[in-house]
Amino acid sequence: MAVLITDVKQLVGVRPDSPVLRGSELANLPVIDNAFLVVEDDHIADFGTMKELPVKYGLNDFNEVIPAHHGLVMPAWCDSHTHLVFAASRENEFIDKIKGMTYAEIAARGGGILNSAEKIRNAGEDELFNQAWKRLEELKRLGTGAIEIKSGYGLTVEAELKMLRVIKRIKEKANIPVKATFLGAHTYPQEFRNNHQGYIDLIVNEMLPVIAKDKLADYVDVFCERGFFSPEETELICRAGISYGLKPKIHANQLNVSGGTEVGVKLNAVSVDHLETMDKNAIETLAGSSTIGTLLPNAAFFLRMPFQPARELIDHGCAIALASDFNPGSAPSGNMNLVVSMACIQMKMLPEEAINAATINGAHAIELGHITGSITIGKKANLIITKPIPSIAYLPYAFGSNLVERVILNGEPV
Ligand code: NIG
Ligand code: FE
Repeated sequence: MAVLITDVKQLVGVRPDSPVLRGSELANLPVIDNAFLVVEDDHIADFGTMKELPVKYGLNDFNEVIPAHHGLVMPAWCDSHTHLVFAASRENEFIDKIKGMTYAEIAARGGGILNSAEKIRNAGEDELFNQAWKRLEELKRLGTGAIEIKSGYGLTVEAELKMLRVIKRIKEKANIPVKATFLGAHTYPQEFRNNHQGYIDLIVNEMLPVIAKDKLADYVDVFCERGFFSPEETELICRAGISYGLKPKIHANQLNVSGGTEVGVKLNAVSVDHLETMDKNAIETLAGSSTIGTLLPNAAFFLRMPFQPARELIDHGCAIALASDFNPGSAPSGNMNLVVSMACIQMKMLPEEAINAATINGAHAIELGHITGSITIGKKANLIITKPIPSIAYLPYAFGSNLVERVILNGEPV
């Protein structure tokens, strides 16, 4: 099955190979003007300029021709950090925040993650799956073509495993790559409020062995934060995960300078995520490592926090990615188009930098850089065709407009 996409104003993110982009390399987004692209089955088979097209092919070579009508064609978004599986929205807390409460205050009174945990414990597996599947369908229409999904709203052996089984079902059924992360250490559940070691023992001795045996996760995550898990506890839990083959990807430096970045780098984490509150040491440590810093501007926006210091991170030579953090508490949107706009508007990333961070670097943040995230022959045909727009910069500039005309995932139109 061969599909030809013609009349592409610009083919965006064209790369013969796909290294992680760090520092000044992030601004380099190679394009081909006035282009065509060939999809064969589920992968990108060829591309070139419209001038070359009649030299290389006849129209009978294709089962289908999709005119791009001078829209851009780019790699689908790679959303490397989400909490897509949850049982209920939390707009009541949203109102409490409007009235003046902070995220930490809401958490301290049993709201926040604990509120979501109570709902998850009472929800059926099918119901959780159906809800998450619907969310995923919406994200796919918005251009997301690879996704990471975390547990972390269960906080009991039974409920964490339930969440991970739901993620596994999504992984098996979805036509896009899905990675699963075990976030049992999201917060201490009420029943272990005064017995932290007891909950860590549960994670290490009861949850991780089953997760490994049933292959329920690719990564281990810990919310390393004052009032949540200390750097020492984070290290202990991550090391246990590593012993079962799970690489760390951790929540770090969100609300406080927590030491999370340093622990992540020490453990060779695939990524450290959030990074709203970075000091000099955290930035330099990250810059000197192969760990990716994943920025989640939608969370900073929604919690009215200072945005991540993207410019400083880039200028120090860090490798950074952008992700949505889609979750009911701090980022109830998985719209990666908005994430990219937010990164440009609030974090002063160039459009090219933001697009690279949300595609190729996002793919690397879930170890899929060899499969997706760029226009490369042999990679998955996970593509966004935009409406006819004047330039790449128009995408983040016209924030809030849906400029996605069509999405192709695994070689098939969504
Ligand atoms: O990534 N920071 C910790 N976890 C989530 C929020 C979870 C919640 O509030 O439900 C986050 O922002
Ligand atoms: Fe998160």
